Amino acid sequence: MDAQETMLSPTSASSKTTAKPRQGFATSLGAIAATLGSAVGLGNIWKFPYMTGENGGAAFIVVYLLCLFIAGLPVMLSEFVIGRRSQANAVRSFKKLAPGTPWHFVGVAGVTSAVVIMFFYSTVAGWIYAYIFKSAGGALAAVDPAQTPAVFDALTASPVTPLLWQWVVLAVVGTVIIAGVQNGIERVAKTVLPILFLLLLVCDIRALTLSGAGAGVNFLFRPDFSKLTPGMFLAALGLSFFKMSVCMGVMTTYGSYMGPEDNLPSSMLKVALSDTLVSIMAGLAIFPAVFAFGYQPDAGPSLLFITIPMVFNSMPLGQLFLTLFFLLAAIAATGAMISLMEVPVAYLSEEKDWPRTKATLVSVLTVALFGMLGTFSTSILSHVKVWGMTFFDFFDFSTSSILMPMAGIAISIFAGWVLGKKVIVDEASNHGQLKNQTFLSILSFILKYITPIAVTIVLLSGLGLIKL
Ligand code: PHE
Repeated sequence: MDAQETMLSPTSASSKTTAKPRQGFATSLGAIAATLGSAVGLGNIWKFPYMTGENGGAAFIVVYLLCLFIAGLPVMLSEFVIGRRSQANAVRSFKKLAPGTPWHFVGVAGVTSAVVIMFFYSTVAGWIYAYIFKSAGGALAAVDPAQTPAVFDALTASPVTPLLWQWVVLAVVGTVIIAGVQNGIERVAKTVLPILFLLLLVCDIRALTLSGAGAGVNFLFRPDFSKLTPGMFLAALGLSFFKMSVCMGVMTTYGSYMGPEDNLPSSMLKVALSDTLVSIMAGLAIFPAVFAFGYQPDAGPSLLFITIPMVFNSMPLGQLFLTLFFLLAAIAATGAMISLMEVPVAYLSEEKDWPRTKATLVSVLTVALFGMLGTFSTSILSHVKVWGMTFFDFFDFSTSSILMPMAGIAISIFAGWVLGKKVIVDEASNHGQLKNQTFLSILSFILKYITPIAVTIVLLSGLGLIKL
C-alpha cells in the first residue's frame, strides 16, 4: 500500500496497531468539553488579559480574532484530522499517514513541547493554588496595597512552598489521567467547566457593578486602531496557537479520541468561540476593576499575582472575590495541564505498551524532576542562566518561540500539501456526510498558503532574525 492510499483509507492502514483496545471520548459533547478544558487555561485568565492590557485593548482583540482564523483554527483542524484519521498518538499518527517519511518528527516535537511546557506551567499553576489559600486566609488583604508585590516575592523566593504546590498540582493531574480518558479527562471537564463559567460570571457581575467600571469596558470593546503594531500581530498569532493548545500534540491526541460521527469543524468552532468568550469574561472581571480603582492595565505578567490582588482588595467583599478568582484560575490551569500530560501518557502507553498507570507515573515524575528547575528559577537557581535566561524563561522561550512555531509551520505544510485538500475535506466532512465543503475549502486554502508564511514570519521575528 503506498502512502497516498494509506492516507485515504486509514481503516485499512497496515501499520502495526496496539493490541489494547483504544478508548476514546464517550460522547461528542464530552469531546468538546475536554477540548475546551484544554483551551481554557492561563492563556485566558492571565496571558489574554495582560496582552490585551499591554497592547491597547479592543484593537488587540480584533487582531487576535484574525490570527485565530489564519493560524489557530486551521492548525487545530489539521490536528483533529491527523488524529482522528490515524486513531493514534501524536507520533504514530504521522507514521500511519505518511509511512517511511520523517514527518513523525513533528509529532516528536509536539510531545517534547508538551513535556517542556509543563516544566514551567506547573510552576505557575502551583503559585495559583498557593494564592487560593493566601487570599482565603487574608494574607493578601493587606491594608496597604504596597504589600501585595512583597507577598508574591516572598512566595516565589522560597524554594520549598512553591515546590510543594507544584507537586500538589501534579498529583491532581496524575490522578485524573490515571482515571482514564472517559472517567478522568472527559468527566472532570464536564463537571468543572460549568463551575468555572459560573465563578467567572460572579466575578464579572461584581466588577461591572463597581462605580467607574465603564472605563474598563470601553478599553475592552472600543478598538483604537492607531495602536496597531507589527509586534502586536506577532504576539496575537502566538497567542492563537497557545490558546487553541495546538502544536503540542494535544489536539492530535484528542482528535484521535473523537468518534467517526463527531463534527470536527463544528466542535472546533464551538471550542474557539467559548474559549474567546471565557477570555473576554476574564477581561471583564479584571479591567473594569483596574480602571475603577485607578490602576494601570498594562502591568504585564504580574497582572495576575500583583495587580489583581491589589484591585480586588480595594473593593467590598474583595477577599471573597479574590479567592473565587484564583479558584477559577486554578481550575483553568489544571484543565490545560491535564491535556498536556495526556500527550506523553498516550505516547508511552501505546508505543511502549505500558499500562496507563505506569505511563502516567513516569510522565508525572519526569515533570516533577525537571519542573524543579522551573520552580527554583525564582529562588535558589535564579542566578543560573541558559542562553542568558533562567530555566523558567528558557522553557517558555524554547517552546513558545521555537518548537511551537516550527511545529505550526510543519503541521500546516503537512496538512495543506502532503495530506492535501482532498483528505482534509473527506475527513472533516465525515466522508461527505456533512455539507461543510465550502468552509473546509477556505480553511484548506489558508492552511496551504497563508498559515505557513504567517508563522514563518513569527518564528523569524521571535528569534530576532527579522525586524518588522
Ligand atoms: N490553551 C491553554 C491555555 O490557554 C494552554 C495550553 C497550551 C494547554 C498547550 C495545553 C496545550 O492556557
